[in-house]
Amino acid sequence: MAGERKLLRALKGTFDKVPPESRSRAEVISLAMATFARAGYQPIETPILEHTEVFARGVGQDSEVVAKQMYTFTDRGGRSLTLRPEGTAGVMRAVLEHSLARGSLPIKVAYAGAMFRQERPQKGRHRELFQLGIEAIGAEAPLTDAEVIEVGARFIAAAGASQTLTLNSIGHVDSSCRLGYVSVLAAYIERKEGELAEEDRARARVNPLRLFDSKDESTRAVMAGAPLIDEHLCGPCREHFESVQRYLTDAGVPFKLDARLVRGLDYYTRTAWEYIGSGLGSQDTIGGGGRYDGLAEALGGARLPGVGFALGLDRLMLVREAPETGPTTDVYIVALGEAAAAAAWKLAVELRRADLGAELDHSSRSMKGQMKDASRSGARWAVILGEEEMARGEAALKDLTAGDQHSIPLAEVTRRVTEMKKRRESARR
Ligand code: HAM
Repeated sequence: MAGERKLLRALKGTFDKVPPESRSRAEVISLAMATFARAGYQPIETPILEHTEVFARGVGQDSEVVAKQMYTFTDRGGRSLTLRPEGTAGVMRAVLEHSLARGSLPIKVAYAGAMFRQERPQKGRHRELFQLGIEAIGAEAPLTDAEVIEVGARFIAAAGASQTLTLNSIGHVDSSCRLGYVSVLAAYIERKEGELAEEDRARARVNPLRLFDSKDESTRAVMAGAPLIDEHLCGPCREHFESVQRYLTDAGVPFKLDARLVRGLDYYTRTAWEYIGSGLGSQDTIGGGGRYDGLAEALGGARLPGVGFALGLDRLMLVREAPETGPTTDVYIVALGEAAAAAAWKLAVELRRADLGAELDHSSRSMKGQMKDASRSGARWAVILGEEEMARGEAALKDLTAGDQHSIPLAEVTRRVTEMKKRRESARR
């Protein structure tokens, strides 16, 4: 049927990462994991698919992400499963399941992976998103918050993006400060109910803090005059927050306080922050994080505080200014004729075993076609194997930048290219 032959496309809100851009993504992921490892954060992988309850209980039924954005379905066994919308709840589930807290604390883990949220797609907002994150679990000290925040800021800078770090404390759920503040805020919002956008009235009843994130102009005007958390923090929460700020100042990490920063996930307690990029329009948050001292208990574990962040790789790629990366190919082998093609294959493997980048023709193209491909590959050298060279056991080595060419024994190619590459690299240093 004609319909069955229609070219299939990726789902709306998802996109393929194809060369050449996919290479810089992979480099940024490696840079992230290396930067995280230097502070002791080791890789962790958790399943993309979890029981829906992990997020319903962990992230919170009332959060926008859980209530409106999850990809949830019933599997053939009748279980409710969800494609993870974020990484923290799954990481905490794994830490509890494997009793990792029995070892030394904090447990420090790092992850890089796809998350799924059914949002309205736009620039910097996708349905499949890729997050890079770290979590420090099992420590309550403000030093831990500061360490996590600094690692994120340092990585963003190393990846070539500029950022503003905004910071707040939203108090502790266990302490009087959050409860007290939320009731003061709720009373204020109730007085202004008539001025709010319709959908924000309902949101306010579920969680008044959410209104700080409203995009609606009239709600924003109401919230501009709302009482703020900083005047309501209890003694221990205030002390914790001041210590975090001192540690950041000691480390030379600039930040801006923002008492309206509340974050969208329900597990947050105390410190909350965002890394804001520029040039991203409305989706300008490169990453966000915070403390989540009640998450372990929400998932059925014993009390186990934690703090972490996640960065959106897709957004980071949009704002970073990256230096051009060099080609991955050192040598392109041009082969003319059957015997030369067989020799080219053997030479390519030999060069690659010697840690050189080598490419060769795969479709018996003409000399002209192969030379064109050589220059496309970015290779510095071409090794030309023609019939004459083959008969003499030689190869023509051509410097594709300088243009000069000379014949050398075929058996010498790998050694000579290795030497020339070393010389070039030390001249560059
Ligand atoms: P989040 O603020 O929901 O936090 O997401 C973190 C980052 O993921 C955002 O700042 C953004 O860069 C990126 N992001 C989120 N949704 C999308 C989307 N639809 N398209 C593209 N990028 C997106 C969390 O997920 C928490 N788990 C962070 C955390 C870790 N808190 C503690 N530990």
